[in-house]
Amino acid sequence: MTASIAKNGPRTLHPGGHMRRFFDNPLPMLAESPSHGDLVRWRFGPLPVLVANSPEIIHDVLVSNASAYLKTSTTKAVMQPLLGNGLFVNDGDDWRQQRKLVSPAFHHKRISAYADLMVRYAEELAEQWKDGEQIDLEQYMSEYTIHVVSKSLFDAEVSGEEKELRKTVEQVLQVVDKRLMTFFPTPMWIPTPQIRRYKAAIARLDELIYRIIEDRRGGKTGQQQITDKGDALSMLMLSQDEAGSKMDNKQVRDEVMTLFGAGHETTSRTLTWTWYLLSQHPEIEQRFHEELQTVLGGRTPTMEDLPKLTFTEQILKESMRLYPPAWVTTRQAAHDTTLGGETLKQGRVVIVNIWGVHHNSEIYPDPWAFNPDRFTPEFEKSLPKSAYLPFGNGPRVCIGNAFAMMEAKIALAVLGQRFRLTLKPGHPVEPQDMFTLRPKYGMLMDVAVRQPELA
Ligand code: HEM
Repeated sequence: MTASIAKNGPRTLHPGGHMRRFFDNPLPMLAESPSHGDLVRWRFGPLPVLVANSPEIIHDVLVSNASAYLKTSTTKAVMQPLLGNGLFVNDGDDWRQQRKLVSPAFHHKRISAYADLMVRYAEELAEQWKDGEQIDLEQYMSEYTIHVVSKSLFDAEVSGEEKELRKTVEQVLQVVDKRLMTFFPTPMWIPTPQIRRYKAAIARLDELIYRIIEDRRGGKTGQQQITDKGDALSMLMLSQDEAGSKMDNKQVRDEVMTLFGAGHETTSRTLTWTWYLLSQHPEIEQRFHEELQTVLGGRTPTMEDLPKLTFTEQILKESMRLYPPAWVTTRQAAHDTTLGGETLKQGRVVIVNIWGVHHNSEIYPDPWAFNPDRFTPEFEKSLPKSAYLPFGNGPRVCIGNAFAMMEAKIALAVLGQRFRLTLKPGHPVEPQDMFTLRPKYGMLMDVAVRQPELA
């Protein structure tokens, strides 16, 4: 038997153990954790928790021994009222089957067809920005990604309802944020004001989503003939498993809600952080503009242009290393197993330290510096497995990663050709550990239209 490499975390005499410090301010604790060891023991109240810090240990959890783990009961308690048995929270054979059914919606050919609408929404957004004005960047990035996701998921039917949808999703995510950051969330049957708000918002989303599904099934005429409208909803409703069975309305609802929840805020956060980093690094911004000029020369980008925007891709990758929207993920042992020689009893929680691995100086020299040049193909090849995890890894890797990269690249290309964004002087910027990593004080930016000779 291999000796355990697990080390104890920082000493604590607090009855809550490491939990209080973690939930108060997790990022510094996660950044520091690799200095305690590759695998570190924390205590959350009476419960022992393991923190996976090194790429090797993380790889074991997410990839090599992935089937020994489940999503945690906290994730389920918080997310299931919203996402039902959608991909994000489901486990085991059910999850495997769902993943097979949802995957066709994200095949390269299918998502390529979304490029035009991504360009269109980025251009519509560009029309709203005026030279010299100050904008709340987060709001615009969120508007862009919500438009893209709802159009690609639902086609045109919700065009009048996007605002309502957005507001409701925001309300829901606020509650999710709060509940996820307590290890023991209040049970859903206790009618606290927060839980009542959460349930009411979910009911509104349900109403909308079920109506869309019913309409797509042929509405009151009930013809049950689903037409492929080229959106993900069609794909979900048309997908079949090997036995020829399709998803029922409840499962389609859960997947739509999951894609909506997982696919909008994450990408908008990435874009917000990327514009911020560009605004702080004029030489990088200059090279970004030069690439746009060389590849596009002022044209609207197309799907074929995207692979040529290599520096833009490096910028995005480095931005997601520094500010990974999913800064941590968690698993729970499905049965007794071992990790780094440590015996894990069924139910033991493992924190996958994405923030820590992305800021580990042994893997990324000068880890807090924004240096897109590090993301050369050679560097990426030389990285240990599971050392770069903005989209997770293994069988549960983000299903929308190619979609998100394309969506982000298009927004950068369309908007970067026309505008420079500069952080409002004196505006404080600090990452905040919400469900996805957000700028704590928002992101106020001054807009400048780029000079025609540069554009
Ligand atoms: C920059 C944008 C994005 C980031 C950083 C991101 C990050 C992640 C991460 C880290 C996971 C794995 C979680 C875990 O292992 O516990 C994940 C899973 C997932 N993501 Fe994304 N995501 C992004 C965009 C999207 C988009 C655009 C969609 C869909 C439209 C999407 C849908 C999902 C789904 C359904 C899962 C669960 C997959 C499964 O468990 O089988 N994500 N994402």
